[in-house]
Amino acid sequence: MIPSRIIETKRDGGVVGRADLEAFLDGYLRGSVPDYQMAAFLMAAYFRGMDDGEAEVLVRAMLDSGAVLDLSGLDGPRVDKHSTGGVGDKVSLALAPLAAAAGLYVPMMSGRGLAHTTGTLDKLEAFPGFRTELSLGEFKDVLARVGCAMMGQTAEIAPLDRRLYALRDVTATVPVIPLIAASIMSKKLAEDLTGLVLDVKVGSGAFVPAEERALSLASTMVEIGEARGLPTVALLTAMDRPLGLAVGNALETAEAVACLRSGGPPDLRELVLAEATEMLRAGFPGTSEAEARLSAENTLDGGHALERLARLVEAQGGDPTVIDEPRRFATAPERAEVRAEQDGTVLAVDPLPLGQAVATLGGGRRRLGEPIHLGVGFQLAVAPGDRVRTGDLLGTVHALDGAGSALGSGVLRRAVRVGEGVPDLRPLLSHRVSAGGVTRY
Ligand code: URA
Repeated sequence: MIPSRIIETKRDGGVVGRADLEAFLDGYLRGSVPDYQMAAFLMAAYFRGMDDGEAEVLVRAMLDSGAVLDLSGLDGPRVDKHSTGGVGDKVSLALAPLAAAAGLYVPMMSGRGLAHTTGTLDKLEAFPGFRTELSLGEFKDVLARVGCAMMGQTAEIAPLDRRLYALRDVTATVPVIPLIAASIMSKKLAEDLTGLVLDVKVGSGAFVPAEERALSLASTMVEIGEARGLPTVALLTAMDRPLGLAVGNALETAEAVACLRSGGPPDLRELVLAEATEMLRAGFPGTSEAEARLSAENTLDGGHALERLARLVEAQGGDPTVIDEPRRFATAPERAEVRAEQDGTVLAVDPLPLGQAVATLGGGRRRLGEPIHLGVGFQLAVAPGDRVRTGDLLGTVHALDGAGSALGSGVLRRAVRVGEGVPDLRPLLSHRVSAGGVTRY
């Protein structure tokens, strides 16, 4: 295997043979292929794409590079969900305890904030003391006791993906569908699941904004899962506006808790219930959609999911009493209100600048491992379609200082567009992709 030949083949639009690609990836993992050659290959893949065979080699190499959990000793179905990431997406925080309380085991490995999106691990750390870095043994123990466990990708799980992901992040080569699909699926396949639900975001706040490409990403991931015996379903969900009204780590955690109290914004509740329904159908084959939905609703509205969240927080070293006192979540010292300057309808709430601003305000990392401020962000007061009058509150900026408040206010004012007309919005849930094909909601 000669690395420059492999790069050349991809650069010229060719397909790299299985043995060559395997050797190239193995060389990267072992250090004989340096970062600069892998970066050149990734950029060639960005422009030329990769075919299904190459993607399959990639998944296998990522998976085989690390440990695979053995959860076969658990006495129930093991189902996880993974989102491709969006602005205000706090679904996992409510969904994992909900699915566990409804009878599933949920071994959830999540990520930190990435680019303009906040991460589940950071949101969990809004519970004082919550430990997201567990050994695999601790993870399994919490999972067995509580029914769900949530942690980051350890060094043992798919180390090839970890290294490639870090390189893609700094070489502008993240948005390559086979690379994203292989990266996500290698981690999910390592969780030893019996079912998987994917939330693929579509719209301007998503990593893959265009519907056609999001559908292709969804189908690729479903094919990878099914080819390895993991029943996989993907839902395409709207990311042309933020999900819910809170954007920013601790604000989102508080909103997820409100959802588990049967409150919070209706779109968040709907997505949590829809994804819980899919997880329950995956875990208990033969259950009808209506039965699964009813079970999810009863678990949520009966308070069982909230109680399960408290157990999870406690089991992972956090302080569960915060759940009953959301004011104790991290806060930022400065607040600035942004009010409507005209009467009208909220035509759009642009997710991307809001997500980017959370990072600028101190809620995201510029370098790996950098500490972040969990309290900064935006608490929106309106969603697209709402009528407002001059002077009505559009949202509140939570910032560290006056400069942050000013910056955030400007971003919020531009992101919330008020005028006359009807918002042109994607449906919250638009497509369902499974082994049986693509159906529209
Ligand atoms: N999330 C991942 O885990 N990997 C990607 O490549 C993109 C999003």
